[in-house]
Amino acid sequence: MIKVGLIGCGGIAGAHLRALAAFEERARLVAALDANPEQSRRVGEEYRGITVAQNSESFWDVAMDAVIITVPNRYHRAYVEAAAARGLAIFCEKPLAANLADAAAMTAAVERAGVVNLVGFKNRYFGGIQALHRLLGREGLGALFAYREVCSGARLVNPSIGMEWRMREEIAGGGAVADFGSHSLDMATWLFTPQAGPLVNLDGRLATFIRREGCLPSNDDMALLSGRFASGALFSALDSRVGPGLYQVEVYGALGRARVDLSDPDRLHVSAYAKDNEIAVDDDASTSLGNPFTVQMDRFLRAVAEHRLLQPDFATALSVQRWIEIARANAR
Ligand SMILES: NC(=O)c1ccc[n+]([C@@H]2O[C@H](COP(=O)([O-])OP(=O)(O)OC[C@H]3O[C@@H](n4cnc5c(N)ncnc54)[C@H](O)[C@@H]3O)[C@@H](O)[C@H]2O)c1
Repeated sequence: MIKVGLIGCGGIAGAHLRALAAFEERARLVAALDANPEQSRRVGEEYRGITVAQNSESFWDVAMDAVIITVPNRYHRAYVEAAAARGLAIFCEKPLAANLADAAAMTAAVERAGVVNLVGFKNRYFGGIQALHRLLGREGLGALFAYREVCSGARLVNPSIGMEWRMREEIAGGGAVADFGSHSLDMATWLFTPQAGPLVNLDGRLATFIRREGCLPSNDDMALLSGRFASGALFSALDSRVGPGLYQVEVYGALGRARVDLSDPDRLHVSAYAKDNEIAVDDDASTSLGNPFTVQMDRFLRAVAEHRLLQPDFATALSVQRWIEIARANAR
């Protein structure tokens, strides 16, 4: 039985706890910690028998094998270093950190300790995205020409929402460029790099449109990114906190175009340019893998049980963080 500790009992922690509960025969929650005792108490009420730690010291006193870290970006580092020093497997939410120096230190810590480490790029596990990965893996679109993504969420544009940590540069780092852009950059490099080589340059245009009384963000809420892979293939993404929620990935290749829209997350749409170029899509292209958080947790727990490294790891997330910082530095 894998014993798991949770650090950060806010919004996204709920999704991980539900995913963990799906594997109760293999793993169980043993401890929860949050800077706000009200938050950890709620988790303690739902998961009876766990230790609701009042501080870090009492949390680390609990015997455990793995931790899930779901605190704001700036605070990931201290908990990752503490967990790595104890030899624990670590699942850490994205973006890896609020800045590049922290991300590099965290990656060095898990590599030095040799612990299982995974970062929460959960968009990889949608059924349509997995089918797209398989299609590109067998070069099913021919030579790759371009990747285009729109990733937006509507919550923060709502006038009833006040300032949150993710709008504060000192706690979050970048805004939409880090929050959503980390997903876009991970997805594009994961899908394209095997065939198109690494991303070799990236430009950004960042803007802050949300400005209302009591809510003046110190980071961006819209990022327009464009770059190029080593093969010459193009990358572009619009990552946005304004506008209704939308997540669309499009890939253009020599044989056609493939598209996934997360309003229908388990379907891969492929359009071939010519009929005799019809592209065969996997039989299971429209088969759901299930909730991406559950798929992600399953992979993590298997790796912990087998003491096996897995992707996307901290080194991958460090490379994403590097591109986020380059986009921010190049932003005009
Ligand atoms: N993979 C995804 O799709 C996804 C989605 C949402 C959030 N996230 C990431 O998850 C992390 C948490 O985001 P969230 O939306 O759950 O935020 P949140 O504000 O809802 O929750 C954060 C929790 O951490 C607690 N906290 C703050 N500082 C702490 C500290 N120093 N020590 C202990 N607890 C502390 C807060 O009290 C709060 O309960 C962020 O890194 C975010 O980017 C990822």
